[in-house]
Amino acid sequence: KKRVLSGIQPTHDSFHLGNYLGAIKQWAQLQEENDAFYCVVDLHALTVETDPKLLQKRTLLSAAQLIAIGLDPNKCTLFIQSHVPAHNQLAWVLECMTGFGEAGRMTQFKDKSQKGGADRTNVGLFTYPILQAADILLYQADLVPVGEDQRQHIELTRDLGQRFNNRYLEVFNIPQAQIIKALAKINDLQDPNSKMSKSAASMSGVIELLDSSDVILKKFKSSVTDAGKEIKYDEKSKPGISNLLTIHSAFSGKSITEVENEFADKGYGDFKTAVADVVNSELAPIREKTATLMQDPAELMRILEIGGEKANQVASETLKKVYEAIGLAI
Ligand code: TYM
Repeated sequence: KKRVLSGIQPTHDSFHLGNYLGAIKQWAQLQEENDAFYCVVDLHALTVETDPKLLQKRTLLSAAQLIAIGLDPNKCTLFIQSHVPAHNQLAWVLECMTGFGEAGRMTQFKDKSQKGGADRTNVGLFTYPILQAADILLYQADLVPVGEDQRQHIELTRDLGQRFNNRYLEVFNIPQAQIIKALAKINDLQDPNSKMSKSAASMSGVIELLDSSDVILKKFKSSVTDAGKEIKYDEKSKPGISNLLTIHSAFSGKSITEVENEFADKGYGDFKTAVADVVNSELAPIREKTATLMQDPAELMRILEIGGEKANQVASETLKKVYEAIGLAI
């Protein structure tokens, strides 16, 4: 059995289609044959200032969505990052081993700090990838299922793990990113050259898992398509149609070529409606299950606390080895 670990931020009420196809749908598959740990990374979410009540609600909503998409707390360990203090404790140790320039080269940090401006760029945004490395290394993970935008953070995690092992003792397993190439970057429907993102300026190109079927249909119908009429996969000249083909294929289980053939003599309008239909038939039950789970927040917390206990056991064992290896007098 391989150890799997991944995390997702509770920064919004709903996850989006990029999160779903790029990451969390894989999580559900990977729990079957592996020893999987999945966490809602509420500490990472603190890099964006949020109303405390809202953050709390979103943390539960995130867990509810994860269970609704198929994570089974009996098959995997589902927990909240802040329930395991070792994440912060290891993060500090790793921060002391990370070069300032090395952290500054993280492209996500560069993007976010540019967008936020110097005043709004907090130090947490800078050390964010190091906390992420701690999330992963604490669990001795083999595989980290993520989308393409996390590749560099996993590389940093590997570097830090190796650096620690070389400098002190072989404490950490060195993990690998598990990225499904075809689904690793789902794009915004209004701006098909950019990835679908929770922080998009407008949500009209972002399909949220908790959007109603009507809203989803509307968003697909108004998606930006390309010149010409053909429904053909061509990332360069037809990024909009290519993105829709990727989405259709992921939901219908058909290959891109099969979908192209199916719509060979149809127009963009018919195709967009068909994409909305396959998406809605999978997402509608997820939406309903999320709503049902949210009716009993105490039960959700109970599940997350059980997960937190299991996570704490594994994490504190690794942390103890780390503290001993670096010479803390514990
Ligand atoms: P986050 O919360 O931004 O995104 C969660 C997951 O969704 C993937 N993703 C996408 N995949 C395909 N297409 C897209 N448009 C798209 N947008 C997002 C992300 O790659 C991610 O896998 N730093 C992480 C959270 C994190 C983490 C960890 C991940 C914290 N600790 C430890 C793995 C292991 C993040 O911000 O993900």
